[in-house]
Amino acid sequence: MKQLSTRTAGFTDSVIRRMTRVSNQYGAINLSQGFPDFDPPKEITDRLAEVAGMGPHQYALTWGAQNFREALAQKQKHFYGMEVDPDREIVVTCGSTEAMMAAMMSVCNPGDKVVIFSPFYENYGADTILSGAEPIYVPLKPPTFDFDGNELENAMKQPGVKALILCNPSNPCGKVFTAEELKVIAELAIKYDIYVITDEVYEHIVYKPNVHTCIATLPGMRERTIICNSLSKTYSITGWRLGFVMAAPEITDRVKKVHDFLTVGAAAPLMEAAVVGLQFPDSYYEELREHYTHMKNLFTGGLKEIGLQFTNPQGAYYVLVDISEFGYESDLIFCEELAQKVGVGAVPGSSFFKEPENRYIRFHFAKQDATLNAALERLVDIRMKMKK
Ligand SMILES: Cc1ncc(COP(=O)(O)O)c(C=O)c1O
Repeated sequence: MKQLSTRTAGFTDSVIRRMTRVSNQYGAINLSQGFPDFDPPKEITDRLAEVAGMGPHQYALTWGAQNFREALAQKQKHFYGMEVDPDREIVVTCGSTEAMMAAMMSVCNPGDKVVIFSPFYENYGADTILSGAEPIYVPLKPPTFDFDGNELENAMKQPGVKALILCNPSNPCGKVFTAEELKVIAELAIKYDIYVITDEVYEHIVYKPNVHTCIATLPGMRERTIICNSLSKTYSITGWRLGFVMAAPEITDRVKKVHDFLTVGAAAPLMEAAVVGLQFPDSYYEELREHYTHMKNLFTGGLKEIGLQFTNPQGAYYVLVDISEFGYESDLIFCEELAQKVGVGAVPGSSFFKEPENRYIRFHFAKQDATLNAALERLVDIRMKMKK
């Protein structure tokens, strides 16, 4: 048989999904793969029931249903003051996952370079490989996850750099980039003529006093920012696979074509049902923030009582716990043993870092109180069961 594609030969199984399997194998409470174990808003599921009876059930317009795009544009204007043309500047995709891939395919030629902050969400590595681009990593330095402006400039000024990927708020480190930091990134992007591809799926999961700023709103950034986002986290509907790209018309025009050939379109009935969510009043987003703040406080409060070291997230729903005290050389083995001996699933931090970083594991806390309390009860024994 002829060899399969060299482009994909280096792909490994997602470590996150692997840890879910390990958790299941040992009956562990799975705090590895990040999705909520509570229901989406009832207004959305009720609307889905109506739509099931009346449709639409056939293909929507390839770049997304008109009312869905109009609702997205209105929401973007409401939260960020951005005027977005729903016809020329939005493509509805199958999650932010497809949005990122379509953006990368639209921007990059094989051999182009893309700057990525490390630690990073693992899909970005695959996105660069599939689009033929080469990643250049710039460290966000733990425990504060600040970056060094000179290091960033050294990366961005390299020949062939086409884009920078900005995950804000960040998975896995929970960083919310400040307006000042975004200004530094924006100035370099303009100076070196680089596109910024953002992943903003956690835009509404930001802990006070931190504030999410969309980099497209900074001077000179609207035309070079490709916003990738989704409804997965904001409305607790990760399985619906609804995302979108927002960008200037010339970029959107290209993304529309890539998206058309990749997937044809997002699910028409789900778009119809989710419009009601996009039209929720401000109180919904305030309650969402309060709900996640409660879960964060519950989980990190428990970690503190146990005496574990962790980095306090500013946004998203993950916490990185420092496992140096346990003396393991491999955080992967630590996570496997944690699932087996303690009964809690986590993701080894090394799967997010380009640097040889072995001291963190990632838990997510988008879970009901009972689930988080049960995990904390198990973690009380962590030193007894895991010390080398
Ligand atoms: C940073 C980040 N981007 C994208 C995704 C996937 O988003 P979607 O469900 O919209 O494809 C995730 C899911 O965990 C994520 O953490």
